[in-house]
Amino acid sequence: MNASQPSRSDAVEVRDLVVRYGAATALDSVSLRVAPGEMVALVGPNGAGKSTLVNTLTGILTPASGSVVVRARIAQVPEGRQMFGDLTVDDNLRLGAWQLRGRGKSRRKQRDTSWVYELLPDLVRVRDRKAGGLSGGQQQMVAVGRALMSRPEVLVIDELSLGLAPLIVADLAEHLTELNREQGTAVVLIEQNARLALDLCSRAYVLEAGRIAAEGDSADLAASPDIARAYLGEAQGLPSPPDAQGAPGPDAPGPDDRATADPVPTPGTVKTGRGNQDTAVQAARATTREAK
Ligand SMILES: Nc1ncnc2c1ncn2[C@@H]1O[C@H](COP(=O)(O)OP(=O)(O)OP(=O)(O)O)[C@@H](O)[C@H]1O
Ligand SMILES: [Mg+2]
Repeated sequence: MNASQPSRSDAVEVRDLVVRYGAATALDSVSLRVAPGEMVALVGPNGAGKSTLVNTLTGILTPASGSVVVRARIAQVPEGRQMFGDLTVDDNLRLGAWQLRGRGKSRRKQRDTSWVYELLPDLVRVRDRKAGGLSGGQQQMVAVGRALMSRPEVLVIDELSLGLAPLIVADLAEHLTELNREQGTAVVLIEQNARLALDLCSRAYVLEAGRIAAEGDSADLAASPDIARAYLGEAQGLPSPPDAQGAPGPDAPGPDDRATADPVPTPGTVKTGRGNQDTAVQAARATTREAK
């Protein structure tokens, strides 16, 4: 099957999507697909509609027209993480499983967080600390772990690197590729650092003013002079951290934070991911070195 062609086996299929906020059109005729086990990047400038698109995928927003078909369990790491700051890391993780149905032993298994700590071992030593007191990088890991607790087949991450130190971003990127490679979880990655996103993901969409301006294999997009000029220039270096230790950034959570890992249980299939993950991790590290 041609990877760029829509198929009924796609985990996510969006056609001619229009989303409005009142009279303002945020997305106009957007089509996108995600195959099982695929890593797909969504890049574009501020206000392009990236969050609107993923919030529509996870059912937070309702389309004005067009169709969104999600054939897999999907969970979202929301922009700004949105922790329950007064709850412990472990409690935040367990909240991620709230929508899974199960009783007795199976419920206990669903709420078992140990496998998330295996995947994100940096969280072990802070498991009993309140999430609100953690560094930005630790909070992002909690947000990823919380979304994973709903056992998603598609993980949507809205701004992986926002406010984080380059080394922490590289670490998170490595965890994502590992998750994709070992568990076959598809990833939709929104990322302001377009180079990192194109390195990590095999396919990408460029969103501009609510429309898809370009799409295709990440390597082809990265090689396009127009894309390189618009998105991969000097200004696209990794974002500056609030401080090198990864202290809470300006987007640290407030008291009204909500957990929004939002699984949508529908049947789906998962197969092993493809793509340039090994290279991507090296590239993420290289980008980190460049950005230092
Ligand atoms: N709740 C809202 N009410 C009205 N307009 C909104 C709302 N949320 C977003 N918008 C507008 O919709 C457009 C798309 O916003 P969106 O947040 O989806 O962009 P984005 O690509 O995620 O931007 P960023 O990179 O800054 O996160 C923008 O013009 C924005 O101002
Ligand atoms: Mg956004």
